[in-house]
Amino acid sequence: MARPKRAPFALSTTSRVLGYLRASDSYVSGQVISQELGLSRVAIWKHVKTLRAQGCRIDACRHRGYHLIGVPDMPTEEAVGVPLRTLALGRPLLFFREVDSTNRQLALRAPDAAEGLTIVADHQTAGRGRMGRAWFSPAGANVYLSILLRPQVSLAQIPTLPLVVGCVVARTVGQFAAGVPVMIKWPNDLHVNGRKLGGILCELVAETDGVQHVIVGIGLNVNLRRSRLPVHIARSATSLAIETRRSFSRAEVVAELLNQLEPAYALWCAEGLDPFLPEIAGLDLLKGRPTRVEQTGKRVVEGIAAGVGVDGTLQLRQPDGSIISVCSGDAHVIPVIPPAAE
Ligand code: BTN
Repeated sequence: MARPKRAPFALSTTSRVLGYLRASDSYVSGQVISQELGLSRVAIWKHVKTLRAQGCRIDACRHRGYHLIGVPDMPTEEAVGVPLRTLALGRPLLFFREVDSTNRQLALRAPDAAEGLTIVADHQTAGRGRMGRAWFSPAGANVYLSILLRPQVSLAQIPTLPLVVGCVVARTVGQFAAGVPVMIKWPNDLHVNGRKLGGILCELVAETDGVQHVIVGIGLNVNLRRSRLPVHIARSATSLAIETRRSFSRAEVVAELLNQLEPAYALWCAEGLDPFLPEIAGLDLLKGRPTRVEQTGKRVVEGIAAGVGVDGTLQLRQPDGSIISVCSGDAHVIPVIPPAAE
């Protein structure tokens, strides 16, 4: 991974005002804030109004100043910035309350952007899933995140990236909810107890001379309540909150995803999928199970899943013992129907 030298990460002024208020236990006068941050008092007031519009509860009292009472659970640049330990990923991070799709917004900015640019949204109106599907993206509940990468690797290595990101998401889930048995369903789904917790959508732009960039989109169901699941995914989806009966700071989840992704990505750039294979084997939902893969063009292949190859392909063992390597598609465990009792 090429690491260009960067200027220190600059928070927006609104985020700096929020940071200042966060650090103050009680009321702090507008004059003190304006001196500390080098802003006019009118500017401070405008930033306070912006923060209130974002859902922050800030009391303003004539002779005492401002007091931050509450901050919504929003994965804003400022909130993610506190636990973020990366050098490149998430720097900068753009937060939107509503977008069509974070992947699409990042694609629009990608031609002029450096590696690491990240877009996070509270709500997607047209969240995209794999194979042309929609990704359910309600407000105030989940993580929708897209990261711009510019890996200097061969095109052949790119299909292995979602598996690395899958490991990163599984590690992150482990950090927050250690007992949740998260698994990877090849090639890029995260499952818990047979239900989908998250998905990864990697979109590649390549030219004849190689990779231009990859947009890594991660959707992770975090604080989604069962009652908010629409009928079509009510039985197939889950969230960290449903699995644990707890809620989580989305800002901390986003920061940890980026903290985990940065070294994993550097390792993958240097050594490919190989170092991740033991971890993938341990997380492999399909391994040893009868599996059907539906590929584009309605082609279907079946076999007993026998792990993931170093090229990221799914290995399907055939009845004659031979192995078919599958590059892409939608994989499902074939339900085994017990023979009817005599
Ligand atoms: C899938 O399992 O089908 C992949 C889902 C990927 C969803 C994420 S949410 C953030 C990013 N923006 C999108 O529009 N999609 C990805």
